[in-house]
Amino acid sequence: MFRASDYSNLLRQLEQFFTDSANQKPIAKRLEPEILREQLSLDLPTEGKPVEQLQTDIANYLTYAVKTAHPQYFNQLWGGFSSPCFMGDILTSATNTSMYTYEVAPVATLIEKTLIAKMGKLVGFSEPEGQFTTGGSNGNFMAMAIARHRAIPTLKQEGMVNSPKLIAFVSADAHYSFAKAAHLLGLGANQLWKVPVDEQGRMVVAELEKQIAQAYAQGAKPFFVAGTAGTTVQGAYDPFAEIATVAQREGLWFHVDGAWGASVLLSPTHRYLMQGVEQADSVVWDAHKMMGMTLMCSVLLLKHRGMMLSAFSADGTDYLFHAGEEEPIDLGLSSIHCGRRVDAVKLWLTWKQLGDHGWETLIDQYFTLAAQAEAIINAHESLAMVNPRQSLNLCFQYIPRNSQQDPNTLTLKIRQVLWEEGVAMVNYAQLDNRVVFRLVICNNQTSQSDIKEFFESLVAIGQRLEQEIG
Ligand SMILES: Cc1ncc(COP(=O)(O)O)c(C=O)c1O
Repeated sequence: MFRASDYSNLLRQLEQFFTDSANQKPIAKRLEPEILREQLSLDLPTEGKPVEQLQTDIANYLTYAVKTAHPQYFNQLWGGFSSPCFMGDILTSATNTSMYTYEVAPVATLIEKTLIAKMGKLVGFSEPEGQFTTGGSNGNFMAMAIARHRAIPTLKQEGMVNSPKLIAFVSADAHYSFAKAAHLLGLGANQLWKVPVDEQGRMVVAELEKQIAQAYAQGAKPFFVAGTAGTTVQGAYDPFAEIATVAQREGLWFHVDGAWGASVLLSPTHRYLMQGVEQADSVVWDAHKMMGMTLMCSVLLLKHRGMMLSAFSADGTDYLFHAGEEEPIDLGLSSIHCGRRVDAVKLWLTWKQLGDHGWETLIDQYFTLAAQAEAIINAHESLAMVNPRQSLNLCFQYIPRNSQQDPNTLTLKIRQVLWEEGVAMVNYAQLDNRVVFRLVICNNQTSQSDIKEFFESLVAIGQRLEQEIG
């Protein structure tokens, strides 16, 4: 059934793919969808073919795949490559199982519980509980659902028909998944109130207090506030201790969205950014971002035991969950999913390989690279940071020498050329009326010389375009 030799061709193709990434071959082959469609044989056949003949399809896939382990890949909040993680992915596929019961996933259940305990302790929870989820968005959704359940326990059976108007608060720079959660949970997106942020994108807690008072004055029921640990664009960390004080006083569930930035907890030097997180009721932490795991690998951690089970258990599950133990080991009982992939094994293997100290070194290395990038930007006459760096995100612009030229247009154009010429991938964002590069440092294949090269390429393209535009 399984012969290792059947996979030797695939492994050779993968080796070539990663060698090309390491040798900085073009990072992507950008084609319009209609043209790419012509290059691939996408149609699904009526008659199948032997597995050996899938090689061309695999080769095509790899030819047009973006090289996310390329040292110049800075486009998203994830990238790079980890061997133990890759081994874990293979192990997960090979032993294909679902996380719902201990019966079918005995080792994976214990591994997941070990990681939840470890990561929960790093947050500062004494008796943590949690689940791996299908990502930070899903974790934020689940946290809001649990908070809603605590606010109105009858709602699980009765729905929201007779419930007061519930109001949730997030910062103006919080991730869009909260807006989705608010409408999916029946609050309505208008009941997600956006608290203003300061220049650097941190929630202004005095504004939160004003908004809470306003909500009460309207007869509504504030129930949830989320702080963000590492905002998506600026990498800002909200003042958690201050938010916690307000949340406790007002009886709000306090959630921290650490999808991007909770991993700084692994570094004794940088974990100060998370000060106050231990006072949260729940925390989302994506290991597929700063920790470099393959997508998806994300946890929702809770301070209070039993809340997940209470919020997510359902009737009619006896066919699946047979035992009647006091603290059921089956993770599926307190999950919103039925079948769920094993995402914990790859993280567990990587943790075994790196140890706590390896994680610390990785996170500290990212901060060193980010500081180097910031120094390059600050020292260069054609580059300007939009705000000082707070963590691993650098928002900056290319400033043309000719003041008649528009930095926004030029910034977009430079990004496009870097990508089309296969040199580097870096994303952009809009801050107020400025279009900025958003350089994110979280790729374990990137070195100091790669950072230097990135800026050299960017500036060279900028100068070329300036001349072309005239
Ligand atoms: C701050 C923040 N929260 C949540 C998310 C969503 O995470 P995921 O992509 O794992 O759903 C992101 C994604 O970038 C994010 O930046």
